[in-house]
Amino acid sequence: MRARAVVLDFGAQYAQLICRRIREAGVYAEIWPWDAARADWDGPDVKALVLSGGPGSVYEPGAPACDPEALAGRPVLGICYGMQWMAKAFGGRVERASSGEYGRAEVEVLQPSPLFKGVDGRFPAWMSHGDAVLAPPPGFQVLARSDDTPVAAIGDEARRWYGVQFHPEVSHTPSGSRLIRNFLYEIAGLRPEWTPAAFVEEAVGRIRETVGPGRAIAALSGGVDSMVAAALVARAIGDRLTCIFVDHGLLRLGEADEVRRLAREALGREPVVVEAGPRFLVALAGVRDPEEKRRRIGRLFAEVFEEAVARHPAEFLVQGTLYPDVVESGRGKADVIKTHHNVGGLPEGLRLRLVEPLRDLFKDEVRRVGRELGLPEAALSRQPFPGPGLAVRIVGEVTPERLRRLRQADAVVREEVEREAARGGLDRARLWQYFAVLTGAESVGVKGDHRAYGEALAVRVVESVDAMTADWLALPEGLLRRLAERLTREVPGVTRVVYDITSKPPGTIEWE
Ligand code: XMP
Repeated sequence: MRARAVVLDFGAQYAQLICRRIREAGVYAEIWPWDAARADWDGPDVKALVLSGGPGSVYEPGAPACDPEALAGRPVLGICYGMQWMAKAFGGRVERASSGEYGRAEVEVLQPSPLFKGVDGRFPAWMSHGDAVLAPPPGFQVLARSDDTPVAAIGDEARRWYGVQFHPEVSHTPSGSRLIRNFLYEIAGLRPEWTPAAFVEEAVGRIRETVGPGRAIAALSGGVDSMVAAALVARAIGDRLTCIFVDHGLLRLGEADEVRRLAREALGREPVVVEAGPRFLVALAGVRDPEEKRRRIGRLFAEVFEEAVARHPAEFLVQGTLYPDVVESGRGKADVIKTHHNVGGLPEGLRLRLVEPLRDLFKDEVRRVGRELGLPEAALSRQPFPGPGLAVRIVGEVTPERLRRLRQADAVVREEVEREAARGGLDRARLWQYFAVLTGAESVGVKGDHRAYGEALAVRVVESVDAMTADWLALPEGLLRRLAERLTREVPGVTRVVYDITSKPPGTIEWE
C-alpha cells in the first residue's frame, strides 16, 4: 500500500491547502477527520501526521481532539490549533493570548532544527490565532518566536514531533513549502515518489483488478475530468471501455464535433454520440425557474443515458469524481446554493458499479496525469463548462431562438478573449471562465435609423483557482469595445452589452 501523510482536519479552512502542499512536495497525502477511529490508523501506511489548524480553543469542552495514541512512533507536525492541541495533550500550557496575532509576522529561529534547514534565521510568516502555547510539553524545546508569540515553533527531536503557530501552507509564508518539505524529507524520511507516472501505473493496476474481464461505460462531458478518467480506464482495459457522449443540445458552437475529435485523439476511439437536443428543448419549454430547469435537465439526462447504456451492456460506470468532492461529501453538506448536475452522474436505476480513478486527485493533478497519459493540451486546458450547459446562461425560458443567439454570442466572446490572450493583452493563466449570458432584460437600441428592441447580453470573465471563489477580470478597453461592437452587430436580437463586475461571493460564476 502506498505510503502516505495524513492531514488530520480539526475543522481548518486550510486542510485541503495543506494536503496540496504536501502533494506538491511529491508525497501522497489524505485528509482525515479529527475523530478518525482507532481502526482507521491500523491499516494504511501513515508515515507522517500533520495536525491542521481549526477554529476551536483546545480548552473548551468538546474541542476537537484526536486519539493521542495515533501520534505514537509517527513524525508529527502540528499547525496552529494542531500545535496547541499537541502541546496541551502532552503536558504543556495553552491559554488565550493577551493579544492574538493576525496577519504577517516576523518569525525568529532560536534553535537549529531539521525543520528550519535552509530557512533564513528571520522569515515572514502568516499568523491567525487568539490562543497561544505558553509552555511547551516536557521533552519539547522552543524553536522560534515572534514579537507577539514567544512560542512560535516547538520541537521534540527524539520523538520527531514538531509544532508551528504560524501557517506554512499559505502563500504569505514564503518559506512555508521549504518547511513542509523539511518535515517530510528530513524528519519523516519520505521521498518525493508521488508522481503522475507512479499514479498512472498504480491506477491502471487497480482498474484492471476491479474490472477484471468486465466491461465499462464512460460518460464524456467534454470536460477534463471525464476525459482523463476515461483515458486511464482505456489504458487499463482497452476495447472493453465504451464512451458515451450525450449531446443535450445545450452545448457551445461546434462543441459536439470538438468532443468527438478530442475523444478520437485522447482515447483512440469514437464515442457513441446520443443526439438528444430536441428532447431537452421540449422538456425545457415554458420553464423559467432556474432550479426547475436544472432538475428537468438532470432527470432527462439520466433517462437518455440509461437508454444508451441499455444498448451497450457493461458492469461498470466510470466517473470523474475528484478528491475535494470526496472530502466535502464526508462532512455533511453545506447549504445547497445550486443543484449541480454533473454529467455522468449515476442514474439511480442503473445497476452499475462505479470506477472512480480520480478520487484521490485534485484538479491540477488531473491535468498532470492527463499530460502523463499523452492527452492533447486542447483536451486538458478547456474552460470548465456546467453540466446543464447554456441553459443556465439563459435567464428565463430556453427557446431555440435564444439558444442560437447565446451560442453565437458565446463564440464571439471566446474568440475575442482567446485572441487577446494570444497577443499577450490578457494573462491566459488567470482566465478561468469567459462566456456570454442572456440576461432576459429587454432593451431599446438603434440599428440604422430604426428603433430596435432586443435583449441585453452580459459578458462574464473570471479568474479563480477552484471555483469556490472568483473575481472578475479588468479587461483591456480595446477588447471591451470590440466585444460590444461585434456582439451588437453580429448577433441578431442583441441590442446592448454589459460587463459583469460581480465577484464570488456574493455572486456565483454562472447566472443561474
Ligand atoms: P457557480 O455558478 O456555482 O459555479 O459559481 C461554480 C463552477 O461550477 C460550474 N457549474 C457547474 N458544473 N454542473 C457542473 O458540472 C453544474 O450544474 C454546474 N453549475 C455550475 C460553473 O461553470 C463554475 O465553474
